[in-house]
Amino acid sequence: MARNFKDLSEQEILALAIALEEEDGRIYGDVAQGLRLAQAWCEECHAVGAKTVGPGRAGPDFRDIANRAKTTALSLNVFLRSNHDNMPNFIIPRGETDDIVAYILSLKGR
Ligand code: HEC
Repeated sequence: MARNFKDLSEQEILALAIALEEEDGRIYGDVAQGLRLAQAWCEECHAVGAKTVGPGRAGPDFRDIANRAKTTALSLNVFLRSNHDNMPNFIIPRGETDDIVAYILSLKGR
C-alpha cells in the first residue's frame, strides 16, 4: 500500500531529504573547517585526528568510525541529528554538520 508523505516520521523525512541532496555524490562540507569544529566540540570524548588512539575516551576514535563499512554521509547526518543515549545531543547548525561529516569521511582509508 502506498504510504502518504505525512505518515513518514521526522527521521524518515530527514533521511530522504539528505539522500536526495547527496544524490549527485558531492560532499558539501569544508574538511578543514570540520576539523576545527571537531577539535572544539568533540575532542573531549573522541580522538578526532587521523591516528587511532584506541579506548580511553568516552567515544570511538573518529578514524575508526570513518572506516566502518556502514559509515556514510547519510548515517553520520542521521546520527548527529537524532537523540542518543550516551552522547550529548548537540544542536549543530546545518552547515557545521556538513563540515564535520566531510571531515570524518576524509579519514576513511587513512
Ligand atoms: C561527552 C562526550 C561526547 C562528546 C562531546 C561527543 N561524543 Fe560522540 N560519542 C560519545 C559516545 C559515548 C559515543 C558512543 C555511544 C553512542 O554511540 O551513543 C559516541 C559516538 C559517536 C559516533 C558514532 C555513532 C555510531 O554510529 O556508532 C559519532 C559519529 C559521534 N559520536 C560523533 C560526534 C561528534 C561529531 C561530536 C562533536 C560534535 C561528538 N561525537 C561529541 C560521546 C561524545
